[in-house]
Amino acid sequence: MKGVAVIKELLAYVRPHRKILIVGGLLGLIGSAAGLAMPLLAKYVVDAFGENTSMAGPLLGLTVAVLVGAVVSAGGSYLMERTGEGIVLGARRGLVDRMLRLKVADVDRLKPGDLMSRVTSDTTLLRAVLTNGIVESVSAAFMLVGAIVMMAAMDGVLLLITLLVVVVIGALVALIMPKIRRAQTHAQEAVGEMGAVLDRALQAYRTVKASGAEEREIAEVGEAAVRARDRGLQVAGWTSLAGVATWMAVQIAFLCVLGVGGSRVASGALEVSSLIAFLLYLFYLVPPIGQLVQGGVQLQQGLAALKRIREIEELPAEPTEPVRVAQGSVEPVGVTFEDVVFRYGDDRPIVHDGVTFEVPPGGLTALVGPSGAGKSTVFALLERFYDHQGGTIRIGGRDIRDWPLGELRAALGYVEQDAPVLAGTLRENLLFAAMDATDEELRRALARTRLDDLVARLPEGLETAVGHRGVLLSGGERQRVAIARALLRKPRLLLLDEATSQLDAVNELRLREVIAEVAAETTVLVIAHRLSTVTNADRIVVMESGGVRAVGTHDELVGLDDLYRELAATQFLVS
Ligand SMILES: Nc1ncnc2c1ncn2[C@@H]1O[C@H](COP(=O)(O)OP(=O)(O)O)[C@@H](O)[C@H]1O
Ligand SMILES: [Mg+2]
Repeated sequence: MKGVAVIKELLAYVRPHRKILIVGGLLGLIGSAAGLAMPLLAKYVVDAFGENTSMAGPLLGLTVAVLVGAVVSAGGSYLMERTGEGIVLGARRGLVDRMLRLKVADVDRLKPGDLMSRVTSDTTLLRAVLTNGIVESVSAAFMLVGAIVMMAAMDGVLLLITLLVVVVIGALVALIMPKIRRAQTHAQEAVGEMGAVLDRALQAYRTVKASGAEEREIAEVGEAAVRARDRGLQVAGWTSLAGVATWMAVQIAFLCVLGVGGSRVASGALEVSSLIAFLLYLFYLVPPIGQLVQGGVQLQQGLAALKRIREIEELPAEPTEPVRVAQGSVEPVGVTFEDVVFRYGDDRPIVHDGVTFEVPPGGLTALVGPSGAGKSTVFALLERFYDHQGGTIRIGGRDIRDWPLGELRAALGYVEQDAPVLAGTLRENLLFAAMDATDEELRRALARTRLDDLVARLPEGLETAVGHRGVLLSGGERQRVAIARALLRKPRLLLLDEATSQLDAVNELRLREVIAEVAAETTVLVIAHRLSTVTNADRIVVMESGGVRAVGTHDELVGLDDLYRELAATQFLVS
């Protein structure tokens, strides 16, 4: 991002608010103009003093200028703040909208804590640059030009001295600005890093405690915080340098003007009142110059934040369109994998090396195989979280690349292997995939997944909060909540990634009944870790290191396939 392009991108955030911004800016200008008139009015008061004429007129003018200036400036600055909040809101909405539509593969690379800081901290920085930065700089520039014009009217020689000083400051500050921008970028990165490290610890809170790793994690977050502070100090250092340079320059200008002006008054070339007014104008230059410098600093900070916001906004979004959940009953669909080749990234090992199998519509199919064989990846490809690189995947006889993404996902029910429950109430979790399910449908799904007694037992029933990631539920309950949620979506194909943890006998029996009932209505593809699931299956696909070894029923495979026999004997609960 360079020069004009960057400013254009910044202005894109401002455009929706330009009308209010212009009004606010105008009020600011009127306020400045009132301020600008004051030294001139003061000169008239002094002149009236010297000439012994009535001071009432000039004094009244001065009072009006003060009052108008104060009221108008306050109104202007309120409008600016309002616009600033609006701009932050727009940036946050845009960023969140993009974040939730990113491709899974891109999100794999990003850190949730860092993403969070982009939405919270970086967007806040944007406000400063877009309101104070741009608008106040415009009004400051107006003040600056106004003061200079007035000074020109007072005395040309003194003006020349002043301008020389202004130019020197300008050059100095221009040198400092890029350094501020770089330091600010690093500071924001450090804030993001801190968020990421903290998020890591919070996500595995129990593991951190169980591992006695509190001290280490605290130290690590602390280090990231220290890095953020150090970078912040760098920004502060450069900013104060710019401030000091400005202040020094104005003091030097003041002394020069006082010296030269004094001698010009002595020689009669300049009136005392003009010198006083000139000196007042000189001090009027201080705030606008300070504001311009501050505006420059904020611009650098905003550009650093913008860079981090744009990094996310420039990632491609998935073309999803909302699809309503089907009414009434649905047709089950079959699945075919034909010579599918897939790897998670160009520099990653091959996960699927020619996977071929076929699942007819309806019934229960189990995927089994050692850990790392690529079973969960089959589901990820069916949901199109990732695109396969070779071969063909069909759902209902149609290539998944030809399905509109929203429609494809609406046809599938998906139960994740880990953490399939979100914070919120039980009801929110159940309705998550099908917001307009009726109470009757909800009741049926609860009965089907044997959750009705749980709901009856809970004091607040469906309104019970389940805690972060559903920690307040047991493993078996979590799994059944996730299945109920997937069922409410009326899937034509249910993908169930069984958690590896062993469930107790009661829960296991329930799960088996649930799966068998669902398989009578729709296609169920389950990644199975339990013999009870497998022996019930209509067919079993045995996967090993990125390929399909064998397909058959339990009895066939026990006779035919060594790996399956071994898995059945060791990994599954042997009946
Ligand atoms: N998001 C991912 N990014 C990169 N590699 C992954 C990702 N998910 C899984 N893998 C790798 O792909 C391989 C197969 O994983 P997976 O399909 O989860 O196996 P299974 O479910 O059979 O245990 C593993 O070697 C794993 O390390
Ligand atoms: Mg898995």
